[in-house]
Amino acid sequence: MITGIQPTLEIPLPKPIDRGRPFTALAPMQDVTTLGFLRLLGEYGPPDFLFTEYFRVTVHSKPEQHIVDSVLHHGTGRPVFAQMIGESVPDLLRTAGLLSELPIAGIDLNMGCPAPKVYKKNVGGGLLREPQTVERLLAALRGGIKGRFTVKMRIGFDSIDNYERLLGSVADNGVNLLSVHGRTVKGGYRSEVDYPRIAQAVRTVPCPVLANGNISSAAKAQAVINATGAAGVMIGRACIRNPWIFRQIHEQWTGKPVFEPKLSDVRGYLEVLYRTITDPSQQERYRLARLKKFLNFIGVSVDPEGVFLHRARRVKTWSELQQLADQFLIDNGKADLSYRDEPWPGLIARPNCEGQENRACSL
Ligand SMILES: Cc1cc2nc3c(=O)[nH]c(=O)nc-3n(C[C@H](O)[C@H](O)[C@H](O)COP(=O)(O)O)c2cc1C
Repeated sequence: MITGIQPTLEIPLPKPIDRGRPFTALAPMQDVTTLGFLRLLGEYGPPDFLFTEYFRVTVHSKPEQHIVDSVLHHGTGRPVFAQMIGESVPDLLRTAGLLSELPIAGIDLNMGCPAPKVYKKNVGGGLLREPQTVERLLAALRGGIKGRFTVKMRIGFDSIDNYERLLGSVADNGVNLLSVHGRTVKGGYRSEVDYPRIAQAVRTVPCPVLANGNISSAAKAQAVINATGAAGVMIGRACIRNPWIFRQIHEQWTGKPVFEPKLSDVRGYLEVLYRTITDPSQQERYRLARLKKFLNFIGVSVDPEGVFLHRARRVKTWSELQQLADQFLIDNGKADLSYRDEPWPGLIARPNCEGQENRACSL
């Protein structure tokens, strides 16, 4: 038998849940897509692909154990891609080698993180300023990674001037799957998503492209597939607000009735969240602080004035939050009301992005 590096585009992607339909993927989200949240999504309806939060690669780094645990124990039955962030080829290859011993579907390179602490070190989104570095990096990683090699990128740093060249590097280096977040690094998380630039990637690279950015509902997923021709959608923040979103998309794409969560389902979700994404060995105030990160996203679809969101940010105990949740999601006939598909206009989760102070961002 011939061993060694395979012609990589010939390694097919794992099959989607619904044959012949677009893929769905969970976007990597540092400190959100942890083991607990992956498990939770497994219960509510997992996507076709999962991506880990990024493994930070430096000269002395070792794959962070909590992310390794998320790969080993998520239990969703769906393939996981392990994401790395870094710029040193030897360290990235060393890390890729270690990660390849885990049950992963492939290795993903982060070329989009917009946190200044990160991009100032020319990693993540910072790489997009230097297309020649990207060329070198992709060629070296493609040559050294035996299995699937995937890339997640934004469309540029502060402009799209390098975009065509960056796509050329992806095309020339046998990347197996490309996820495009249709914003520049400087566009952060609030600028318009440039779907035509995602369509450009679809036309330019030979591998499947996942469209990413503001895909907030099953209807929006369909609209983005229609507008871009992408092979699938990658969804981040919307699945914190609506953990049923992947199930809804799959139901929509297979012509089944689409699940419509009621406010009572959201009440149940809060209980599940508290149990799964917070650490029971921690003091209640720390557990609550962590839960509030997620509540920020959920609250934008509860009441149009944002009163729940405002009060939820200020509760001091879990039981206070439970009472507030009952008041807004259960009492006086609210339990049977539908949970809004999209955020109420004008309500914003704050912060709604990767924190700059985040430990893993201090690369
Ligand atoms: C809290 C948070 C953490 C994130 N962490 C990562 C990360 O580790 N790696 C990465 O490539 N993108 C990361 N992102 C970006 C998302 O993967 C995604 O590209 C972005 O949120 C846009 O998609 P959305 O509009 O569906 O949320 C993060 C985003 C958020 C909100």
